[in-house]
Amino acid sequence: MSARQLLGIGLLSFAFIPHHYTTPSKPHDEKTVQTKDTVYTFHNDVLPLLQSNCNPCHFSGGKVYKKLPFDDYKTVVSLGKKLTTRLKQKEQQAIINGWIGSGAKKKD
Ligand code: HEC
Repeated sequence: MSARQLLGIGLLSFAFIPHHYTTPSKPHDEKTVQTKDTVYTFHNDVLPLLQSNCNPCHFSGGKVYKKLPFDDYKTVVSLGKKLTTRLKQKEQQAIINGWIGSGAKKKD
């Protein structure tokens, strides 16, 4: 086995170490050990998701852009969980729900 292969395996196994093993934990107070929740923001997560799924109708030039523009934070916030009814994939719904659950932030 070459040094290069060994290095590859080393990097691979490192990549598979779950994040929380690398952060210090308090063994006698399990409840304070928190896995960092992903904080979704409108600009980083929600807008790109809507842009790739809800075009062209809800974006500039689309037929409901005047009524429901999805590049407008306020419009999207006001729709809230209704957005998930139009998204088929669980991962996409999870992003919307996670975003709302963490306070529907605009930016980080
Ligand atoms: C083919 C065009 C089109 C696409 C693509 C589209 N929409 Fe819409 N959407 C509409 C129209 C038309 C309405 C009705 C607006 C009205 O109430 O008059 C609407 C209304 C809505 C509403 C509000 C109505 C309600 O159910 O209360 C939501 C929420 C919504 N769309 C979400 C989405 C999401 C999320 C996507 C992308 C996954 C999407 N739409 C993609 C055309 C579209």
